[in-house]
Amino acid sequence: MINISTFKKRKCDQKKISMVTCYDHWTAVILNDTDIDCLLVGDSLAVVMHGFDSTVHATLEMMRLHVAAVVRGAPDKFVIADMPFLSCSKGIPHAMDAVQCLMQAGAHAVKIEGAEHQLGIIKHIIEAGVPVMGHLGLTPQSIHNLGGHKVQAKDAKAATNLIAAARQLEQAGCFGVVLECVPAKVGDCVSRSVQIPTIGIGAGLQTDGQVLVLHDLLGANLNFNPKFLRRYAEIQTLVKNSVNHFHEDVRTLNYPAAMESYS
Ligand code: KIV
Repeated sequence: MINISTFKKRKCDQKKISMVTCYDHWTAVILNDTDIDCLLVGDSLAVVMHGFDSTVHATLEMMRLHVAAVVRGAPDKFVIADMPFLSCSKGIPHAMDAVQCLMQAGAHAVKIEGAEHQLGIIKHIIEAGVPVMGHLGLTPQSIHNLGGHKVQAKDAKAATNLIAAARQLEQAGCFGVVLECVPAKVGDCVSRSVQIPTIGIGAGLQTDGQVLVLHDLLGANLNFNPKFLRRYAEIQTLVKNSVNHFHEDVRTLNYPAAMESYS
């Protein structure tokens, strides 16, 4: 299993890190048997699994249940859990209760969006012995402040600020940082400015690793087409065809066959 020391070593050895989201037990069982380096129980589960329109709706209880289900299914994988919306903004005791909840559910690390505003709490969590991954660029929990899902750090000043934020996270002790939706050149600059690995999503080829939402990678929602997404399957079509096939077999008395029935 990869851990926070091997994370750093991967960067030194220039070996890329792969990560996908995972929210449930049966998917975790499948992913446990793949080569993927680590799993993220992302707060995107509020959108993908619960049908909300943003990650703002992820609650700690939701995160806890999904983390526990994933960890039971993927005992060999390093599992990172997102700290949900505002869980780091209501003071240290509140944040530490949330960290305790996610770590006791089985997570190996937590991920926190933002830098400046979060540095105090990030340091506190790391000093308490819990590994923290940062998340910069497009931070979906601040979607209303950012004015939508837009590419971030497009001008020189914003790119400089992003590099400074990544350095702050490194100094605070983060073991890695997700970079979401930034120009490839900025992804490269940030990655070369810090010694901790950067994991990109829509941040170009030069980040130290890549992460995708599993459902996007598998083609579960064919209406979601961001520029950065590469689809490796079309499970939406596979599921529809399989269920329609079952439906047809039921209607035409083609299921169950004799060998699928008890004598
Ligand atoms: O919640 C999530 O799925 C994420 C990834 C997009 C990095 O934070």
